[in-house]
Amino acid sequence: MIIAVDGPAASGKGTIARALAAHYGLPCLDTGLLYRAVGLQVLRAGGDPEKEADALAACAFDDALLDDRELKTEAAGAAASKVSAIPAVRAALIDRQRAFAARPGGAVLDGRDIGTVIAPHADAKLYVKATPTVRARRRHDELVGLGHEISFDKVLADIRARDLRDTTRATAPLRPADDAALLDTSYMDIDAAVDRAISLVDAQI
Ligand code: C5P
Repeated sequence: MIIAVDGPAASGKGTIARALAAHYGLPCLDTGLLYRAVGLQVLRAGGDPEKEADALAACAFDDALLDDRELKTEAAGAAASKVSAIPAVRAALIDRQRAFAARPGGAVLDGRDIGTVIAPHADAKLYVKATPTVRARRRHDELVGLGHEISFDKVLADIRARDLRDTTRATAPLRPADDAALLDTSYMDIDAAVDRAISLVDAQI
């Protein structure tokens, strides 16, 4: 069983994907980490995340990088959003995502293009969304909790910039698959969102 969970930054899709994986006993891949790893490698090498040669070279990252704490920073997220618009980078990361999806027994993958490109034949697809203000509030609370000093307005501006880049890029733009169930988490707490996600998946499998 393959479950595809897509949606914009801070929509709750990562938490929902992990909860679905635990519920159905499946492994889970946060595909954003792959793009973050590429973005972080480019930054560390002093390169430009919008330059194809720099980003492509960084696709050969060591898997140990997937545990790097800096992957979760806003800088890595912004670099990820830039490298992910480069078609050659997306192509370079397809195989490892499809291999994960093809695991015996199935898998949960979360990202931006799982239901549309990586696993278009997934057994269940969710598109998780929330308003930009709600998502910025969540991300701001999370960053402040981690001890970062950043204004709410800056976080909101970053979220809007990331949404714009992710939805307007030519290759695999962020959009719901035609057969995805929509889940708006704007006014739900996480427990309610997970319950709803499970019933939406149960209805599809
Ligand atoms: O989900 P997360 O915020 O970690 O993703 C970071 C960036 O990686 C996103 O803004 C998006 O540009 C890119 N991404 C993508 N396709 C995916 C997952 C992430 O383009 N499947």
